[in-house]
Amino acid sequence: MSGRADGRNVPFPWERALPDKAPAPFEIHIGASGAMTVRAASLDDVDGILALELAAFPDGPLTRRAVRRFIAAPHKPLMVARRADRLAGYALVSLRKGGRACRILSLAVDPLYRRRGVGRELVHACERWARAHGCEALRLEARWDNAPAIALYRSLGYEEFDRISQHYADGAEALRLENKLGPVKPPSNTDPDLGR
Ligand SMILES: CC(C)(COP(=O)(O)OP(=O)(O)OC[C@H]1O[C@@H](n2cnc3c(N)ncnc32)[C@H](O)[C@@H]1OP(=O)(O)O)[C@@H](O)C(=O)NCCC(=O)NCCS
Repeated sequence: MSGRADGRNVPFPWERALPDKAPAPFEIHIGASGAMTVRAASLDDVDGILALELAAFPDGPLTRRAVRRFIAAPHKPLMVARRADRLAGYALVSLRKGGRACRILSLAVDPLYRRRGVGRELVHACERWARAHGCEALRLEARWDNAPAIALYRSLGYEEFDRISQHYADGAEALRLENKLGPVKPPSNTDPDLGR
């Protein structure tokens, strides 16, 4: 994901503070016409993120206060994907001090935009951020029966390395998945399908 060549991409603010890291775009335009963008969330996105969270995880832990805090936290960036000027999804990453692996803490895509590559591009953006912070791997937990999420992560090379029993409130097990981070991937050159 190197972004468009027309100069519309700007560097991640946190990467400006890391001059020894390879520069990466903060606002990533995907598709030949930039039909989808992934960028850091701003306070204007708070309501949209909460609505997505509620649709995806009715008992989700994200509160308004937490979302505002994450937006301000340089080590826990919230990223949003926009398509057709609508918030289509978000991802929340976490980097522990001294850690060599970043974690995706939350990821959700608007049901209207699922199976259109939004989740994949958000994961790519998380990977890019993780690499820029010296992480060698990106990890996450997925509920054992969350077939769409597991299919998404597996399609991107994530592999199970552990399980956590009784991880969720109803006692369900979590799969721990990990992807070793390789080189930065270029953005897709095809326009996302904006059919809906
Ligand atoms: C999981 C989720 C984020 C996927 O987002 P998405 O934008 O629909 O995923 P993408 O379109 O980028 O899919 C990329 C690939 O993942 C796999 N995939 C995604 N959803 C799938 C599904 N429902 N069934 C089978 N495979 C699926 C496919 O391989 C897909 O590629 P393809 O469409 O070319 O076949 C979305 O379903 C969601 O928000 N679910 C609710 C919240 C959630 O479970 N979050 C993850 C918590 S760990």
